[in-house]
Amino acid sequence: MTILGGPALDAGALDGTEAAVAAAGRHVAHNYSPLPVVAASAEGAWITDIEGRRYLDCLAAYSAVNFGHRHPEITATAHAQLDAVTLVSRAFHCDRLGPFCAALAQLCGKDLVLPMNSGAEAVESGLKVARKWGVDVKGVPAGQANIIVADNNFHGRTISIVGFSSDPAARDGFGPFTPGFRSVPFGNPAAVAQAIDDNTVAVLLEPIQGEAGIIVPPDDYLPAVRALCSEHNVLLIADEIQSGLARTGHTFACDHWGVVPDIYLLGKALGGGVVPLSAVVANREILGVLHPGEHGSTFGGNPLAAAIGTTVVSMVARGEFQSCSAELGAHLHHRLAELIGSGVRAVRGLGLWAGVDIEPTLGTGKEMSRRLADRGVLVKDTHGSTLRFAPPLVVTAEEIDWAVRQFAFVLRDAGS
Ligand SMILES: Cc1ncc(COP(=O)(O)O)c(C=O)c1O
Repeated sequence: MTILGGPALDAGALDGTEAAVAAAGRHVAHNYSPLPVVAASAEGAWITDIEGRRYLDCLAAYSAVNFGHRHPEITATAHAQLDAVTLVSRAFHCDRLGPFCAALAQLCGKDLVLPMNSGAEAVESGLKVARKWGVDVKGVPAGQANIIVADNNFHGRTISIVGFSSDPAARDGFGPFTPGFRSVPFGNPAAVAQAIDDNTVAVLLEPIQGEAGIIVPPDDYLPAVRALCSEHNVLLIADEIQSGLARTGHTFACDHWGVVPDIYLLGKALGGGVVPLSAVVANREILGVLHPGEHGSTFGGNPLAAAIGTTVVSMVARGEFQSCSAELGAHLHHRLAELIGSGVRAVRGLGLWAGVDIEPTLGTGKEMSRRLADRGVLVKDTHGSTLRFAPPLVVTAEEIDWAVRQFAFVLRDAGS
């Protein structure tokens, strides 16, 4: 095996990995099925395992590590804040939250920020805000609001969210679910139009569906949904938790189509790959429906997260990560497209975010991910035979070329 810059794998070196995987299996709940790679350290686009093997990280923790592992600006902020104050709860003010919310609101072109922790919490919070707005502002009778979502969505794992998932593995056994959601085909504005009625308060969408396989909608889709929402006094909620903050070559994926949602949901990269930090961002007439006691989170907007988030927002505001993602993303897509017909069926995506459909006869996505890991490239499969490539935005063109070469070797070996 060849690993760029790393030592060769020898069979005897597997003991530490096997022991670590077995130890984890004894006490870690089995809600994931990770590849047998045991990270010990990481820097930039690279992860080093407990055996000293190096891997190019082409998952970036589902885009939570957009700026690379341990980006120096982010770790400097974290270290400084650890030495100041980390948590006071929202029972008191802290000197970091105001500047963070001001900076994030400005980045989004909105007035207010509701800070939370995980992505799913931001989604739940956005849904609560939309329902409250429906009752308080739109005049929908209490308990009658409905929200339109897209088939094959992925918005997280809470009961309400999995209740409107189309994935049986996400739903089965977890009911009863929260009512009030209508799922329609993604990419079809006419289906949204048909589902809207007087009690519709919001349309919740991923502008590009991530877990579904990096599905980019037709160009007229988001503008048409935006127009429908405006026409019917319905909030457009963009879940940019995975697609936002420079991943696709723009600050937000919605920017590709010039669409401004009423509510942005952000997470993952907002915490700089260091802390969980998510947010609901909207104008005052929407987020202003929340009053003291109606919503909250002990850790939401804590000083450590807020300090890191402020640094992240200032980095995104510079625009350099968006440019990197656009330029290197074009390179990644070009290189991957060269493999169409050699084991690859299709390549989709925008920026440094690519969904790659492999020939199912070559093996499952999971098998291919494992073979790629053996060659020093970490990717994640989704839905059968699709692999996603989403390296940190600090990856280089040479590293992309190397990773795609490893992928070509894996495809060739699988086909022989
Ligand atoms: C679009 C989208 N929304 C929400 C979530 C949930 O985020 P979290 O895992 O932080 O709860 C994810 C996670 O992958 C996501 O991709």
